[in-house]
Amino acid sequence: MSVLPSSTVAPLDDILLRHGHQPTALLQILIEAQDIEGWLPASTLTRIAEGLHIPRARVEGVAGFYSFLYQHPVGRYRVLFSDNITDRMLGNAELLDTLCRKLWVEPGKTSEDGLVSITTTSCTGLCDQGPAMLVNGRAIGQLNHRRINEIAELIRQQRPLDLWPAGYFRVDDNIRRKDALLNLEMTPGMALGAAIRQGRDGWLAGMQASNLRGRGGAGFATAVKWASARNAPGEAKVIVCNADEGEPGTFKDRVLLNSYADLVFEGMTLAAWAVGARDGFLYLRGEYRYLLPQLEAVLARRRSAGLLGQQILGEAGFDFDIRIHLGAGAYVCGEESALIESLEGKRGTPRIRPPFPVIKGYLDRPTVVNNVETLAKTCLIALQGGAAFAATGTAQSAGTKLLSISGDCAAPGIYEYPFGVSIARILEDCGASDTQAVQVGGAAGICLATYEFQRRIAYEDVPTAGAFMIFDETRDLFEVARAFVHFFAHESCGFCTPCRVGTSLLKGFMDKLADGHGAKADLADIDWLDRLLKNASHCGLGSAAPNPVIDTLQKFRPAYERRLVSLDFEPAFDLDAALAEARQLTARDDAGAHLHTHGENEK
Ligand SMILES: Cc1cc2nc3c(=O)[nH]c(=O)nc-3n(C[C@H](O)[C@H](O)[C@H](O)COP(=O)(O)O)c2cc1C
Ligand code: SF4
Repeated sequence: MSVLPSSTVAPLDDILLRHGHQPTALLQILIEAQDIEGWLPASTLTRIAEGLHIPRARVEGVAGFYSFLYQHPVGRYRVLFSDNITDRMLGNAELLDTLCRKLWVEPGKTSEDGLVSITTTSCTGLCDQGPAMLVNGRAIGQLNHRRINEIAELIRQQRPLDLWPAGYFRVDDNIRRKDALLNLEMTPGMALGAAIRQGRDGWLAGMQASNLRGRGGAGFATAVKWASARNAPGEAKVIVCNADEGEPGTFKDRVLLNSYADLVFEGMTLAAWAVGARDGFLYLRGEYRYLLPQLEAVLARRRSAGLLGQQILGEAGFDFDIRIHLGAGAYVCGEESALIESLEGKRGTPRIRPPFPVIKGYLDRPTVVNNVETLAKTCLIALQGGAAFAATGTAQSAGTKLLSISGDCAAPGIYEYPFGVSIARILEDCGASDTQAVQVGGAAGICLATYEFQRRIAYEDVPTAGAFMIFDETRDLFEVARAFVHFFAHESCGFCTPCRVGTSLLKGFMDKLADGHGAKADLADIDWLDRLLKNASHCGLGSAAPNPVIDTLQKFRPAYERRLVSLDFEPAFDLDAALAEARQLTARDDAGAHLHTHGENEK
């Protein structure tokens, strides 16, 4: 039984009907069907396959891909502890342990009475208010032992989530520094009106003059992307807003969606005006599902105001609307071609490119995929003009950048700066002291040491999608890198061998070092693996996976060397430890039940 209010859970036939029995809606149908019982029984998968007239294997394949879809019973209360490195630094492991003990459940398992399951998940985008968790999809931050005790009691009493203290579910924006975007006060429709007055060509020219580059990481020129989609053959063009925000340590899109949704939707509509698109999708990460009702309300308001739908702002032929699609816990779906696969109701496997999405994207239609912040920024450009936008920032990085700041500092939160700001200035502003390192750009980004703190946030120096995690002198940079390596091994979609095997081997090496079994030769092997992953992976996930190790190994080598034993070689596989279970089963733990070292055998 779901803990969601029963009024919000629709029967399966209604769900299928509402989605028009469309296979492209498979992921959305699975997400909604799961609300019925909290998981997806085999009979539900069969009925979905029949309802969509697709093979059952396809349904199962999609259900098996996403970590928020369960094909086995889970607790009526599903607790997912956010497990970014910043949550760990704030003591999430101890809190998880306490909750498990109080509710008599093992981490990663479901209690015998089916009441609760407790496990971890990747970063939930709440690093500014961690440690955090999701309970049946609803976010709770600022966890401490008192709150954990109260939550254990509420679960024991089987209290519905709607009757839990409302304050638990408050997610703060924590905006600490505003600049052009966050200071923008715009009546909905103002930017759109301005762009329509400029005409499609004039508006695209304004975008070109702005030099706006994508804020999702790669920094591709937005106007070039829009012009390519516009010029691509095919009428039914598509605009996608990438709100997957899965990069550990990033949460600025959460704040834009929470408090600046009109800017985001208006930006999507501005893109549609330039490109000539009729359909828009906001791909919202599953972790942000709690934002869905308010986002739907903004869309409804915009439809009533004539800002979406037919003849937008009275402009004949300008028809465009936006639908929200949910993700379900797969970091790789932030990669634009995987995202498109997911939008089509498939597993999020990155496509082979070219063709690029602007030529062949959603259902083979020309598709623009832009980050939330990129789209919001276009409102500024429509209102103030491309030249004014290009006048701020640096030569190759126009405008401002939102940073999600977390870790060892007094004031974590959102900071907006013109591009070109130095790392040192940011550290000063957020109250960081004794800083040892900063991880910029999330797990896939770069790790900066103190001698680099005069470097600047800009595409030509330190590029970033927005994450800025601070580590003071007490932190162990090896453990930071190890956490990121675990993250990549978990999130690898498994499609290509170098990444599937490489991330797992890298994880094995890091664990071996952590366990005190490392030898010098392992560092050489790690170096070799890093190069393999970088050069042979199919998508950006695999090629970025070694970044945290490459940087920390180079800049914080003693953190690795401390873990090396003075041997030339030590096997990665501990055969004696592997036999522990057999010893337990046979109730033997005498010397004869253990493997002896080489020297001992010879005696
Ligand atoms: C593994 C992986 C995850 C990504 N995750 C995101 C994401 O969560 N949000 C995002 O905007 N871009 C993400 N990207 C980048 C997108 O592929 C794409 O470049 C971006 O959405 C384009 O938008 P922009 O031009 O506005 O930056 C990711 C890329 C990779 C390789
Ligand atoms: S690099 Fe990794 S995430 Fe990307 S396609 Fe290959 S296995 Fe999947």
